[in-house]
Amino acid sequence: MAKLDGAKVAVIGGASGVGFAVAAAAIEAGAHVVVGSSQSARIEAAAEKLGPGAKGVAVDVRDEASVAAFFEAAGPFDHLVFTAGDWGHMFGATRDLDVEASKARMEVRFWGAARAAKYATRQISKDGSITLTGGMLAHRPIPGAPLTTASAHTTEGLAIGLARDLAPVRVNAVCLGLILSEQVLNWGEAMIKGFTANLPLPRGGTVEEAAEAYLYLMRATYVTGQVVRVDGGGSLV
Ligand SMILES: NC(=O)c1ccc[n+]([C@@H]2O[C@H](COP(=O)([O-])OP(=O)(O)OC[C@H]3O[C@@H](n4cnc5c(N)ncnc54)[C@H](OP(=O)(O)O)[C@@H]3O)[C@@H](O)[C@H]2O)c1
Repeated sequence: MAKLDGAKVAVIGGASGVGFAVAAAAIEAGAHVVVGSSQSARIEAAAEKLGPGAKGVAVDVRDEASVAAFFEAAGPFDHLVFTAGDWGHMFGATRDLDVEASKARMEVRFWGAARAAKYATRQISKDGSITLTGGMLAHRPIPGAPLTTASAHTTEGLAIGLARDLAPVRVNAVCLGLILSEQVLNWGEAMIKGFTANLPLPRGGTVEEAAEAYLYLMRATYVTGQVVRVDGGGSLV
């Protein structure tokens, strides 16, 4: 396993939740991090909280020029982690589908990740890695949300396609079950229990538990084109 000591890690989506936990764990492992997200006040506050190993740069992944500027500001780096995501993401039932609005909902998670990969190629080390973030709705569809499942699959599709296209840069994805980020904690205990009570590990995961998978994928120098599920065993039920 490669060490992260002295490595440079860019985390887009690092203002909060899983991305922030990845940035903190990377710093603990000796890396320098550049964290990005769309609200400058939030990303500056996150960088300050992360401490001297971190720099915050505002980036809106819906805007190609902003993504290009982020990677220019970041300079050469080793690993990119992409956890940026918006939450207005349930597309609704098929008969009521608003096709145009649905296209817009792909801007952050899918097109944002594609834009980040495009400009990352200008600065990333050939020994480096890119890790994207998907969700278990890709594999455990729920009624009323077929496009949400399709959208979740786009992340994994992009990761395996990029793994071929950008080799020897490694590209993988982490597929998250229910992870107790600030956003999810806002749902309240009853709703969280509803999603997790039947899991083999009957609780939500912590952001630190999720971060472990990203650290593994950054370090695992013979692993590319893979999806690591952090789902409390949700794949089994
Ligand atoms: N938590 C879960 O249970 C779970 C399950 C499955 C999948 N996921 C996915 O995993 C990812 C991380 O989840 P999380 O719970 O850690 O969510 P989170 O705390 O909301 O983190 C998402 C981050 O993305 C940033 N962001 C939003 N829009 C952006 C944009 N246009 N450009 C750049 N950055 C942007 C946000 O910061 P700003 O507001 O400053 O932009 C925020 O820091 C998300 O994509 C989420 O959908 C999460």
